[in-house]
Amino acid sequence: MESTVKYIRKQTGNFVPEIGIILGSGLGDFADEFKSIAIPYNEIPNFETSKVEGHKGRLVFAQIEGKNTVMMQGRYHFYEGYSMQTVTYPVKVMKKLGIKTLIITNAAGAVSGDYKPGELMFITDHINFMGTNPLIGKNDDKLGTRFPDMSEIYNKELIEIGVKSAQKLSIDYQKGVYAGTTGPSYETPAEINMFRHLGANAVGMSTVPEAIVANYCGIKVLGISCLTNYASGVTDTPLNHQEVIETANRVKENFKNLLVEILSTLD
Ligand code: HPA
Repeated sequence: MESTVKYIRKQTGNFVPEIGIILGSGLGDFADEFKSIAIPYNEIPNFETSKVEGHKGRLVFAQIEGKNTVMMQGRYHFYEGYSMQTVTYPVKVMKKLGIKTLIITNAAGAVSGDYKPGELMFITDHINFMGTNPLIGKNDDKLGTRFPDMSEIYNKELIEIGVKSAQKLSIDYQKGVYAGTTGPSYETPAEINMFRHLGANAVGMSTVPEAIVANYCGIKVLGISCLTNYASGVTDTPLNHQEVIETANRVKENFKNLLVEILSTLD
C-alpha cells in the first residue's frame, strides 16, 4: 500500500482527492472530459491490468465543479478471475489518498417490470449474492473493525442529493435494491424470480465488493445503476452484452450530467 500511494502521489503532487468515482460500463469516457492527470493501472505498483472491453484501466485525477476527484476508468471484476482483494484494493488506495465519498456506478438488469431499461437507479441497499466477502482474511484494524456494521452502506443524504439532482435535470430515476452476483453468465429466469422475491430491483456483477469495503473504511457511498436491460425472464428477449453497452451509451449523456450536478451540490 505504501509503495502504491507513494507512486501515485509522485504524479499528483499536492492534489488531494476528496471524492472517488468508479465509472461503470459506458461511462468511462466521462473522465476524458476534464483536464486531468491519468495514471494507467499497469504503471501503479500492486495494481493489476483491467482487461474488460471498453474499459481503459486508469486512475484519473481531475477537478470537477470545484471538487477534487479521483476516477477509476475501468474496474476489476470478480468474474475476470481477480481475487476480492484485487477488486477492492483501489478503494483502499483511494481512502489512503484522502477520499471521504465514493460514487459507484454500474450497469444492471431491471428485475421488476416497473423498473425500465434507460432509467438510472439510486441504490438504497444491496444483497451480496457473490458467495464471498471482500473482508474475509486478516483484518487491518487501521482501516476498519473486524465486524463492520452494514445497516446503511448507501448514504441517505447522498441519495437525497442524487434524487434532487435528477429531478432538477428531469432525468428518469428510481430507487432500489441491487443484488450482486459473480457473473459472468447472466442469470436464469428462475434466479431473477428469486431475486425479485428477495426484494431486489436490479441485478449486476459489480459494486457490492467495493461498497462493502468503502463502508468498512468509513467512506460515504452513493451507488447509481444504469438499468440497461430487463433481467432474464422479465421479457422473452435473450440477454446480450451488446444491448447492455448500447443502452449504457444511450443514457451516457444524462448520466454524465447527473454526475456533474451531484458533484456541484456536494460540500
Ligand atoms: N444481469 C447481471 N448483470 C448485468 C445485467 C443483468 O441483466 N445487465 C447489466 N449487467
